[in-house]
Amino acid sequence: MATRHFLKLSDLTPTELRQVLNRAIELKQNLKEDDIYQPFVGKVMGMIFEKSSTRTRISFEAGMSQFGGSAIFLSPRDTQLGRGEPIEDSARVMSRMLDIVMIRTFGHDIVEKFAQYSSVPVINGLTDDHHPCQLLADMQTYLEHRGDISGKTVAWIGDGNNMCHSYMEAADLLGFKLKIASPQGYAPTAELLKKFAHCVSLVDSAEQAAQDADLIVTDVWASMGQEEEQQKRIKAFANYQVNEQLMTFAKPDCLFMHCLPAHRGEEISENMLDHQGSVVWDEAENRLHAQKALIEFLFHQQGVM
Ligand code: CP
Ligand code: NVA
Repeated sequence: MATRHFLKLSDLTPTELRQVLNRAIELKQNLKEDDIYQPFVGKVMGMIFEKSSTRTRISFEAGMSQFGGSAIFLSPRDTQLGRGEPIEDSARVMSRMLDIVMIRTFGHDIVEKFAQYSSVPVINGLTDDHHPCQLLADMQTYLEHRGDISGKTVAWIGDGNNMCHSYMEAADLLGFKLKIASPQGYAPTAELLKKFAHCVSLVDSAEQAAQDADLIVTDVWASMGQEEEQQKRIKAFANYQVNEQLMTFAKPDCLFMHCLPAHRGEEISENMLDHQGSVVWDEAENRLHAQKALIEFLFHQQGVM
C-alpha cells in the first residue's frame, strides 16, 4: 500500500478530515482526564525545521512523547541537508531510520520531493504555499466552539498566503463559504481563485469580507522569508487590520482566529487577541491534539498500530 503523506489539507478526504477532527477532540478529552495512552512506544519522528517555530515544534515533540515515542529536532544548519546533500538522498536515508517525518521549509516542491522518496509518512509543518496542520487546529477549534462549519461564512483578511491557501482547501473539503479581502497584488492567484470559485470569493474590502461572517481569520502581513518586504507591506495592508470595529460587521457570535505569532498594531489591534470572540489560545493548544490525531491516522494507514 502506498505511503500516505500530509502535504496539503486536501491530502485527506472530507470524511478522513472529519474523522481526524473528531479524534482530536477525543484525544484532548482523554489527556485532560490524565489518561495515559502510549500506542507508539519506540516510534521516532524526525522534525526538519528550515524556518523558526514555537507552536509547531513544541506540539509535535510533546505529542510524540505523550504517545510514548520521541522526536528529533533537525536543523539544516547541523545536518548535511544544509551542506547540499540532495533531498532525495536525505529522504531515503532518514526514512530508513525514522517512522515519520515533519518538515517546515520554503518551497512546497521540497516537501513534495522529500515525500516522493520517503518510505514513511511526511507531514508538512508549513511551506510557502500551505500550512495544513494549522487548519486541523483551526477547524477543531471551530467545531468545539460552534459545531459543524459547513454552510458557514468565513472571512480571510490580509495576505493571500500559505494560510489563506489552506483555508481555501478547507472551504472546499468542509463546505463553508470563504470571503477573501486582500490588498491589490496580494490576493491568491487568479488560477487558484478559479479552481475554488464554487466556495471562495475575492471581495473589495475587509468590511465586505467581515459582513455577516461566522469566523474572521487573519495572519501576519509579512511571512517568514519576506522580512525585507515588511515596510512595503505595512503600507499596502493599512486598511486590512482586524480590530474591534471590523468585528461589528460580523455576526454577534463571530469567532476570531490567528495562527500566531501575531503583530499587535499591524494585522490586529492591540486588544484583538482578548476580544470576546477570540479563541486564539484554544487554537494554539489544539495544534497538539489535532496533530496527534493526524499522526495516529498516518501510522494506522501505514499499518503501525
Ligand atoms: N502557527 C504556527 O505555526 O506557529 P509556529 O511558527 O510558532 O510554529
Ligand atoms: N504565514 C506565516 C505563518 C506563520 C505560522 C508564515 O509563513 O510566516
